[in-house]
Amino acid sequence: MSPKVKSANNGHCRVCSARITPFMSFGRMPIANGFLRPDQTENEYFFELTPAFCEACGMFQLLEQPDPQKMFHEQYAFYSSTSHYMQAHFEAFAHAVINTVFAGRDEPFVVELGSNDGIMLRHFKDRGVRHLGVEPSANVADVARSQGISTISAFFDRGLADQIAADQGGADAILAANVMCHIPDLPGVAAGVQRLLKADGVFMFEDPYLGDMIAKTSYDQIYDEHVFIFSATSVQRAFAPFGLELVDVMPQITHGGSMRYTLAPKGSRQVSKKVSEQLAKEAALGLDQAETYLQFRANCENSRAALMQTLGRLRSQQKRVVGYGATSKSTTVINYCGITPEHVEFISDTTPIKQGRLSPGAHIPVKAYGEFAKRYPDYALLFAWNHAAEIREKEAGFVAAGGRWVVYVPEVAIVS
Ligand code: TYD
Ligand code: ZN
Repeated sequence: MSPKVKSANNGHCRVCSARITPFMSFGRMPIANGFLRPDQTENEYFFELTPAFCEACGMFQLLEQPDPQKMFHEQYAFYSSTSHYMQAHFEAFAHAVINTVFAGRDEPFVVELGSNDGIMLRHFKDRGVRHLGVEPSANVADVARSQGISTISAFFDRGLADQIAADQGGADAILAANVMCHIPDLPGVAAGVQRLLKADGVFMFEDPYLGDMIAKTSYDQIYDEHVFIFSATSVQRAFAPFGLELVDVMPQITHGGSMRYTLAPKGSRQVSKKVSEQLAKEAALGLDQAETYLQFRANCENSRAALMQTLGRLRSQQKRVVGYGATSKSTTVINYCGITPEHVEFISDTTPIKQGRLSPGAHIPVKAYGEFAKRYPDYALLFAWNHAAEIREKEAGFVAAGGRWVVYVPEVAIVS
């Protein structure tokens, strides 16, 4: 297939429409979650992965993005509920909303955007809270519905917000986790949120945080689905035109460093002092300066060189190296660095629908976890580094048997 790329906004910021140009290219990239059956390798789809920073509004974004139908479809290979840590995280998020925002409210109504398989909404359902999930990927939405979680399969926008408000009334809380950064039409969603939220409602969302990505050179957060990498600065500016004010921020350790943003109709809530503190930290980190991204580009290039030097050395020593976790993020690392099946024998992953498939672009086989456990490799390349604590605890036996981890965030290293 020809590398047909939807040229997003003709070189304009998706939020404020200022002209923007990419500060680097990660090269020709496949769809990050596009795990292939062996008979599908010929027709693989590629696009050029080019991040840009808008100097006018501070939004970090992809200049071009493939057609959403190619990324979020009936066979979307991402089920939220595979990690135990993430399950606990979303349970805590739900309980925080119930115990704080909903305290003292009569029959609150919660709407979650991108509710996936219901990993968070099930905790509202279990407490008898009126809820609605909006999830465009039909297969994961079906899983949620089969568990009694009210879910509609649709993309959220102003029109859908009108419809939900007419049918079910305004929302006390609108939530989104690892979803807002996927939606190219941010102004469209903001208009929908403005429409659906009650006057005393809150909009809370969390996504990978730009400050962590820059500090750790975790460039693998950049892939087709992540059209934005947010900061408090860019979020505050993007929602202000819709009457939504940033009233709180809360750092999260999920996804390698995330931020939870709370927004509310302007003037309806007191603004936490954490907001101004975070904005000051971002200014000190230079997140609003174009030069920061040129340094980031140099850091990415250095990281790539160091990783390939390590993998090249292990290959020449004929060591067995296996990838751990066929993450979306790994697609950027593998294809940007030029990792091949010669470097990495296979990738171990616990997600059944990824097993037996080939990784996007480089076509490294993905195998069930049992293949890793039954014959430990010499080295495991930690692609699921965002779950490092959980994984390294679980895999003490691998290290005890002499195995070593190859990591690349925040720096390339071999660790035990
Ligand atoms: P995820 O953390 O969602 O990262 P991304 O957003 O980049 O896809 O994906 C984690 C992947 O790693 C998922 O495919 C499941 C897999 N995995 C394992 O194989 N073993 C594990 O112990 C954990 C925690 C994850
Ligand atoms: Zn802009």
